[in-house]
Amino acid sequence: MKEKEYVHGYSEVESRRLCDQACTLSQLLHCDSIFRPSGLVLEAGCGTGAQTVIIAPRNPACSFISVDISEDSLREARKRIEKANIDNVYFQHADVFALPFEDESFDHIFICFVLEHLEKPMQALESLKRVLKNGGTITVIEGDHGSAYYHPRSPFAQAAIQCLIDLQAQMGGNSLIGRELYPLLSAAGFDDVHVSPRVVYADASRPEMVDGFTRKTFIAMVEGVKEQAIANHLITEADWNLGIADLKRAAEANGTFNYTFFKAIGRKT
Ligand SMILES: C[S@@+](CC[C@H](N)C(=O)[O-])C[C@H]1O[C@@H](n2cnc3c(N)ncnc32)[C@H](O)[C@@H]1O
Repeated sequence: MKEKEYVHGYSEVESRRLCDQACTLSQLLHCDSIFRPSGLVLEAGCGTGAQTVIIAPRNPACSFISVDISEDSLREARKRIEKANIDNVYFQHADVFALPFEDESFDHIFICFVLEHLEKPMQALESLKRVLKNGGTITVIEGDHGSAYYHPRSPFAQAAIQCLIDLQAQMGGNSLIGRELYPLLSAAGFDDVHVSPRVVYADASRPEMVDGFTRKTFIAMVEGVKEQAIANHLITEADWNLGIADLKRAAEANGTFNYTFFKAIGRKT
């Protein structure tokens, strides 16, 4: 995947959004991101290190090689890890589809929010499986935009979310991939596949979730495709503005917001 084909882009705003997302969701997604001590872990598509900064300190006895196709993101990631005084991560430029590692090099593979952007997620899983040791495990985390529901309901908000789903699909991605993790990992030949849904629920009694997830993660992500959505005639500007305003109502005092992430673990035998 070339950098320009990535639906969310590589702007500073997007980097901040990924970081807000990772921090808000760190317990929900990573309470059990614990790998075999002293293992070598490959993090594929690490981006600016938003997940790295959480999982590496949770596994201080492991060594991480974190790769991404974007040199700019890797530069950011290096800075972030250095600032956090984390010393068990080595960053490397690499394409998931052409990994520069020997067969069976890693004890564990971690990949988060990457498959949804790839035209050939199965091929990526097969490539990752090649570099995983026999007996090693893989963790895949993905969202699923079809799992977003909220109060008050709004056809305009739904139409704005659909723009993001359609734009990502036009670029060869699949923002509904979370629900497919079990069949994907199984078809890629992983055994003992287990998927656990991680449900985000936000209402006014959980202000950190409303701010960190509803506003700064989900609404920010939808807002990020405004220009593309209008330029592609997926929606009118007036309807878009109504949709975003309605999504923001779900973050107000009587609003609620729900979203499901999927975390899959599989083994190579
Ligand atoms: C949504 S970001 C997720 C970043 C990070 N995993 C996180 O959760 O914050 C997707 C990342 O996948 C990377 N990526 C996309 N295609 C790739 C490929 N073929 N090989 C390596 N990285 C890739 C992008 O450059 C981007 O940094």
